[in-house]
Amino acid sequence: MCGIVGYVGNKKAIPILLEGLSKLEYRGYDSAGIATFENNKISITKDKGRVKHLQELLENHSSSSNIGIAHTRWATHGKPSKVNSHPHLDNTGKFCVVHNGIIENYADIKKFLMDNEYKFISDTDTEVIPNLINYYYAQNNFLQAVYLACKDLKGSYAIEVLCQDYPDHIIVVRKDSPLVIGTSNDGNYIASDIPAVLSHTKNFYLLEDNEIVEVYGNKLNFFNKNLEPISKKTEIISWDESAIEKNGFDDFMLKEIFEQPKTIRDTIGFKLDKDKITLDNIEFSKEFLSNISKIVIVACGTAMHAGLSAKATFENLCRIPVEVDVASEFRYKNPLVNKNTLAIFISQSGETADTIGALKIAKEKGATTLAISNVIGSSITREADLFIYTHAGPEIAVASTKAYTAQVTLLNILAFYIAQVLGYIDNKLIKSLKEDLFELPNKIETILENTEEIINISKDIYSAKDAFFLGRGIDYPVAMEGSLKLKEISYIHSEAYAAGELKHGPIALINDDFPVIAIVTDEVLASKTVSNIQEVISRGAKTIVITTENVSKAFNYIIKIPKTNQYLTPILSVIPLQLLAYYISKEKGLDVDKPRNLAKSVTVE
Ligand code: AGP
Repeated sequence: MCGIVGYVGNKKAIPILLEGLSKLEYRGYDSAGIATFENNKISITKDKGRVKHLQELLENHSSSSNIGIAHTRWATHGKPSKVNSHPHLDNTGKFCVVHNGIIENYADIKKFLMDNEYKFISDTDTEVIPNLINYYYAQNNFLQAVYLACKDLKGSYAIEVLCQDYPDHIIVVRKDSPLVIGTSNDGNYIASDIPAVLSHTKNFYLLEDNEIVEVYGNKLNFFNKNLEPISKKTEIISWDESAIEKNGFDDFMLKEIFEQPKTIRDTIGFKLDKDKITLDNIEFSKEFLSNISKIVIVACGTAMHAGLSAKATFENLCRIPVEVDVASEFRYKNPLVNKNTLAIFISQSGETADTIGALKIAKEKGATTLAISNVIGSSITREADLFIYTHAGPEIAVASTKAYTAQVTLLNILAFYIAQVLGYIDNKLIKSLKEDLFELPNKIETILENTEEIINISKDIYSAKDAFFLGRGIDYPVAMEGSLKLKEISYIHSEAYAAGELKHGPIALINDDFPVIAIVTDEVLASKTVSNIQEVISRGAKTIVITTENVSKAFNYIIKIPKTNQYLTPILSVIPLQLLAYYISKEKGLDVDKPRNLAKSVTVE
């Protein structure tokens, strides 16, 4: 979704801002804009379209400004257009704002301002912010005016503000939308996402909700929600800058698929170092766990599929009932959670609005909340009682791959750990689970060495209009994830079904050459899924089977994957599905990393 970059320092601002915006392209956007100070006057360049277009508009712009704010917009209020692009000015041209998030009460504020003779030129919610600041500026200084304006705003926002009267200042504020400030000897770098400015610094201030920062020269003044001065410490971000480059791969998605042996190794880390399973920064007592009567796992999209994939491990090994829910549903259903619930929230970005909203509800109801995120210091980790990180490194492609397998790995380790503390698994089982975990990266490498057959299948089915994914038991959530990947990046309509459900309706859609992709790894249920595949073959379907088993040669394509412990199988069986979606998208000539209408981090409801 929208991205923010800002800079104040001793270097030229425009190249830094453009570089930052291009690093944020993966988030999904439709317009881009920049504001700097030129000859002590705010100067704005903005338009709909890509960052490259903005770069062309700025080509003959001789700027020496060493202060500026920049934005990529993902339209919410008002279609993509130059006038709706950020930055936005107030009526007098004194205040200039970029904004991520949504101002829920913008209509009321707009009416109030119009009653006070303010005029509006865009359809955005954002345009009320510079005008409201202007309204308060009549009686206050710049900082106070921004503070008072923010007090009136409802919704989510990360904003940067420039003021004509303070040409060396940027004021930034965040609430329910991420914002960080990287700091170095060359200046201060503001960003909605760390990768935007990672090439300049690894030292970051991670802003909390309602904090306001005055950034000027090399100085940073932090204030709390009451505008009282506070001090903050930086965090060192260990991400390697090369992790946000393609490093020879055509696309980030392919690079991230191939990184999975490493990311699984890093996620396992030292958790299995000794005889016992230990977690990075969590220790549960047997007494605490004995009082847990239910585990709820809440997330969106791929992260929710990771939860579904791990449900069986928690239920079978920990003997605790598990409910997995979509965050946008969970938060509004008055969920049945209480002090005896362990509520786990999974989010790669740690900034997904629905997941954070759901977490707040579970917390209010007394549950112990545990966040699993891939981004250090992300909002979800700060909201939750406890957190653990996956170690997948920055994931740039919109379609999540390495974060998903890291999440499934970590959730399984968490389940093994809980079962161990509760005394449900003995040392022998722990030893064998550990061996299986350690072997996973090599097994993933084996799958990645054999992409030829998947490329052939892609060439065969890329022009299909629809596809089905089937699986039973542990294979069903993997089918859901495979289906989501395919629709996200190839725009082929696809559905996932529990294989036994097909004959209760969906089989009516099967006709000649309809692609049906089945996952068959569950030894006990394999023969049943195979029968369901036979049923679609009889109706003309083209079948692709991902399996650990020796299955009938009657299928059009069989992709054999290595066997592992049943709970860990989803980490292997999803990889051919990720590759299939990728190669089909390539075959169709689509932009794999930036699929239409999608955003990497969904920071609005
Ligand atoms: C995955 O391919 C998707 N782009 C999407 O479903 C994603 O997993 C979802 O939006 C949740 O994101 P999060 O993990 O950052 O919370």
